[in-house]
Amino acid sequence: MVPSIELVSTADDADLLVVPVFTGGELGRGAERVDAALDGALDDFMRETDFTGKRGETLAVPSGDGLNARAVLLYGAGDHDTFDAAALRRAGATVARKATRAATVATTMLDAVADEVDRGAAAQAFAEGVELGAYEFLRYKSDAKPSRLQRALVIGRASARVRTGLERGARIGAAVAWARDLVNEPAAAKSPADIADIARKVARASGLKAKVFEGEQLERERMGGVLGVGNGSQRPPRFVRLEYAPAGARATLALVGKGVVFDSGGLSLKTAGGMEAMKTDMSGAAAVIAAMSTLRDLGVKARVVGYVPLVENMPSGTAMRPGDVLTMRNGKTVEVLNTDAEGRLILADALALAAEEGADAVVDVATLTGAVVVALGDKIAGLMGSNEAWIEQVEGAAERADERVWHLPLPDDYRRNLDSDVADLRNVTASGGGGSLTAGLFLREFTGDAPWAHLDIAGAARASADDGEVAKGGTGFGVRTLVELAATFKKPR
Ligand code: BES
Ligand code: MN
Ligand code: ZN
Repeated sequence: MVPSIELVSTADDADLLVVPVFTGGELGRGAERVDAALDGALDDFMRETDFTGKRGETLAVPSGDGLNARAVLLYGAGDHDTFDAAALRRAGATVARKATRAATVATTMLDAVADEVDRGAAAQAFAEGVELGAYEFLRYKSDAKPSRLQRALVIGRASARVRTGLERGARIGAAVAWARDLVNEPAAAKSPADIADIARKVARASGLKAKVFEGEQLERERMGGVLGVGNGSQRPPRFVRLEYAPAGARATLALVGKGVVFDSGGLSLKTAGGMEAMKTDMSGAAAVIAAMSTLRDLGVKARVVGYVPLVENMPSGTAMRPGDVLTMRNGKTVEVLNTDAEGRLILADALALAAEEGADAVVDVATLTGAVVVALGDKIAGLMGSNEAWIEQVEGAAERADERVWHLPLPDDYRRNLDSDVADLRNVTASGGGGSLTAGLFLREFTGDAPWAHLDIAGAARASADDGEVAKGGTGFGVRTLVELAATFKKPR
């Protein structure tokens, strides 16, 4: 269950109280009261257990008279002057993970934040951390023991800024958790049609306009990439267009998300191991839908349009073959030499439509290449694009959202590796390496004149272990960046 987060002046009935302790055992707000209630015993507890207040350390200590808490946890906050929003997000996640047997957890942690950090941003980060640390995917466990955590009480002075920050953080955290649920769902339970239906429902609940193309509509709309990849599956493709159009909006941001509900590779079949995680190949789509679900609640001023191509990449008698040529939405032809490079084929149509519809800027989010995992590992997304000012804007949003991205180049002279003997482009290079960059160069061919940025989240979309606010499995990477980008969007020049 999703815990609620409340700002309170005093917590009078918490099951667990979490208080910060800085490096060297210096007691933070709330910890002095714990110490007093225990007649000054905290020093002994810390010394005997070698708890030093290092960031992320925790130590359970007894509760004492007048604390109104059944149990107390010390949280190592590290150095005070570096306890920033990102540190609070991690702290929030730890609080939630330690409180799975407690219905109510209270904490004074927010007061420990370094002086120069914006209180609203800190509160938002903390709330995101609580929601994400509480995340569990238990749908298919018959012996599930879900977290009991229902309420997180943030003890602090009444402040509109902090209250708004907590609300925003809870809303964004819930959207990330929603994306994780969809990513973690087995492919059998999320056909392109299923996800299109889900997107429609989300749209209805979030004040978005939704349009779904299927069958002949996809042909009429000339979605050659979507149809080409979709052909191999018994479960036909869809193309979802979501629109958030607040009154008075002056600029339009386009969000594009790769929605491959399962990537077997198609006739260029993957190995068994290579397929294991390929139910997560729709993480970009999930991120776009989730981000868009928050826009009205967060009062975003810009117009935002989401483009989500949905396919299943399967081998079959009707599947596209290596050597087949597809004609994409913008008229360019593509020789498909490897059916496993399918993401770029469906994104091509979506990017072309976004550019055609006159978006002021476009960003796509896609689990696009294994090469980006080789380059940047599983915690950092590759960022590429066609417009420096726009790339910087995306980079800034990612930094504020505390999702790690790294700017990679799109070298013009690599473009020739995508030259085809028979068509305008081939979908894979014959040689040359730099697979993430050539994938980016391929996408660029479909972005027209629109400032465009591309996030390759093949690594960051999935985690192999819990780590701070990240949980093993689908991470929901991209949601926070897209929300921040929409909330602060400025038409790039
Ligand atoms: N969905 C994969 C990329 C991927 C790989 C995501 C590993 C997450 C983890 C994509 O469709 C793909 O198969 N890419 C190929 C491209 C190649 C054929 C040029 C790849 O990276 O191997
Ligand atoms: Mn593939
Ligand atoms: Zn794929």
